[in-house]
Amino acid sequence: MISAIRPATAVVTVRAPAKVNLQLAVGPVRADGYHSLVTVFHAVSLFDDVTVARADKTTLTVTGEDAAAVPTNRSNLAWQAASALAKASGQRGASVRIEIRKRIPVAGGLAGGSADAAATLVACNELWQAGLSASELAELAATLGSDVPFALVGGTAVGRGRGDQLTPALAAGTYHWALAFGHEGLSTGHAYGTLDRLRDARVAAGEQAEPGEPELSHPLMAALRSGDPEKVGPLLTNDLQPAALSLQPSLRRTLTAGREHGALGAIVSGSGPTCAFLARDAARARDIAVALTGAGVCRTVARASGPVPGAVVVRERDRHRDRQPS
Ligand code: C5P
Repeated sequence: MISAIRPATAVVTVRAPAKVNLQLAVGPVRADGYHSLVTVFHAVSLFDDVTVARADKTTLTVTGEDAAAVPTNRSNLAWQAASALAKASGQRGASVRIEIRKRIPVAGGLAGGSADAAATLVACNELWQAGLSASELAELAATLGSDVPFALVGGTAVGRGRGDQLTPALAAGTYHWALAFGHEGLSTGHAYGTLDRLRDARVAAGEQAEPGEPELSHPLMAALRSGDPEKVGPLLTNDLQPAALSLQPSLRRTLTAGREHGALGAIVSGSGPTCAFLARDAARARDIAVALTGAGVCRTVARASGPVPGAVVVRERDRHRDRQPS
């Protein structure tokens, strides 16, 4: 009898990036409770690694940055990603050991949980040889969270809808960042809720109209095409920033310190509290990071550059060949 040789993978590691939002325009609340968005996602070189292995029972462990703050049960988005992939690929009940090595701070506005979920989707797709296409993975990703589809693709991309409908953005060059991590995390839902309350108060006081549908910043897109960080810096915007600043007023000092030390642009990343500082080049990013550390305006600082790719397999150990009946 002729046997087909099919490679089986025992352990897979996938690396997925953090993101910053170069623009985050938040519109009105939709019928489903989410806000309609136009955002420009940008993946940066700060990565979580997720390793998956075949197991009799699903387990999840977390090491690294903020590990103690991460749930290790079904509420973890990575666990949900594995379950969703098992179901979608007809392997309901398949078990997996998930190990997350975190570098992206938890509840930091950098989509670390989304990166872990995206990495888990790609890793389990490989581990189980499930064969889901990129668009099938993207569809599953959107059911897990608004930022998960972007963590799959990375690069620089425009997100619409609730952030999950992506189109690649034409961006030239490499952008260098200093990232200032806060002492306390911020919940994304809480930041959006605070934005709604701030807006309602301003509308009631006659200071502002009801929010309209958000629009893409064409000046920002042109600046990104030019590849010139001097042009991009002043065009960075985040509608969630007032909410993050109202929840953590000390972030004003962090932003001011970065600007004073030469950042071309200074914004709260997503729902915060991480502050992202765009630098002219890698050396200036290092200078800003050193200055922020010296100023004592944040818990810790990292440097990163972007754009970088989304979730990719980085290592496969114990790869061997199984004999399968034809
Ligand atoms: O999609 P995700 O689970 O990451 O969203 C977390 C929370 O952020 C949502 O429960 C919602 O409160 C808020 N959100 C929103 N509008 C979006 C994205 C997120 O209101 N477009």
